[in-house]
Amino acid sequence: MFRSLLDRFQWKGTDHVYSLPWIRNRLEYSADPQRVKEFLQGAKVTRSQLTRDMLSRFHLSHHSIVVSDDEHAHQLRSVFLACLPSPESYSGIAKDLVKQVFKPGGSGELHLSRQLIPAVYLSLLSNLLGANVLRALEEHIRTIDFQPGSRPMHLDGVMYAIGMQFPGLGLMRNVIDWAFFKKDHYTRKIAIKLEQMVFEFATPKPASWYAHLIDMKQSGKISKAQFRGELTSMLVSSYALSAAMSSMLLCLAARPEYVTRIRSDQELAKHFVNEVLRLFPPFRQFGYEEKGIWEKSDRSKDTVTDFMVSVFGLHRNEQVWPDADVFRPERFEVADAVKGCKFMPFGLGKRSCTGRVYSLRVMVEMLNYVCSEECGLQLSLPADFVKDYVGLPLGTNGRLVSFPVDDRIVVRRGVSEGGSPHA
Ligand code: HEM
Repeated sequence: MFRSLLDRFQWKGTDHVYSLPWIRNRLEYSADPQRVKEFLQGAKVTRSQLTRDMLSRFHLSHHSIVVSDDEHAHQLRSVFLACLPSPESYSGIAKDLVKQVFKPGGSGELHLSRQLIPAVYLSLLSNLLGANVLRALEEHIRTIDFQPGSRPMHLDGVMYAIGMQFPGLGLMRNVIDWAFFKKDHYTRKIAIKLEQMVFEFATPKPASWYAHLIDMKQSGKISKAQFRGELTSMLVSSYALSAAMSSMLLCLAARPEYVTRIRSDQELAKHFVNEVLRLFPPFRQFGYEEKGIWEKSDRSKDTVTDFMVSVFGLHRNEQVWPDADVFRPERFEVADAVKGCKFMPFGLGKRSCTGRVYSLRVMVEMLNYVCSEECGLQLSLPADFVKDYVGLPLGTNGRLVSFPVDDRIVVRRGVSEGGSPHA
């Protein structure tokens, strides 16, 4: 029924353009690297209205870097990047995460996302926001059952195309969420409470991102709403990083032969992480628009207003990724593997992900540690794991952040820290 509704929209261009003749919003969805390149290299582009709208609902804020204008985002980005942890800290951050997710002494089956989200969130608060997390906040985070949800993105696209993003229709959107997308409602409740608790139960470390945010708020450089928006965005960043880590650990569990190979080849860990992000990008789609497109009075009927990159489709496009569905980290050994707008898990350009360096480093260090003898973990997939996808974990389709549908992993303690086998 949903599909037949979509079919009523026109099909155009290299991929799909959703529009109705009498509506101004025209969305193009593309998975063609040439078309993406052409669009991004043509006119000046910025994040699209639709993406901002979806992100602000998921972020629960209309005021973080993610949804602000280019100039403001650029200023905050430089402060943020200056506060990143030093390169040598990442292995410690990754080890701590592994120890929290796979509790020492624990064996058996566990759900990765459930373990990862609170651990990653706490880790981001401490290492990226730069906050001392007080006990009340830590205990609260550990009791939460995180179930990040969002309505299907194509539905968002359709609602946007028919003009339902207008503020006056907010009540109707809320009713739809409440009736059909209860997880959205739940995610929002959790985030609002967390934002308040971070404010009350976290103190800034010196010269941290958090300390700078407080300074900027006090000096009036950012508003209270913008300050709160940045705190909230730590949560959605935790979802993205946890989703990527879940996929990475499942991919490793499905291919134990990589454990010894990664031990002897550090570069392979980077390629492995890239291959995970290629096949399982946490953000499956995001969008850009030509700057000033909304002000143009001569905008023709055929002009696209929002250019949505289908990252999932792009990363599995057979024309640029031979054997696209096959998990093969070695494809990234070639120097130009990531060139030409065909690999963009963190987006491209001025508004690309500010957490890219942090996320990649922590993931690579986590993979190195999990594969090391010192860690002593053996990961495998449960016997009844869904295998209709050649042993790869599948992501939830069409959601803003895509988690593996089945995220169960089996943990055994193989080798102890001293290198001797456990009983
Ligand atoms: C594997 C994990 C992550 C992935 C795959 C990811 C991906 C993305 C993507 C696709 C975008 C949109 C880019 C664009 O529109 O061109 C984005 C934006 C952003 N991400 Fe991430 N992200 C991750 C983790 C993080 C983390 C840990 C942070 C930490 C704070 C973060 C902070 C941001 C911010 C602030 C933006 C907005 C940047 C701007 O608008 O200028 N991300 N991310």
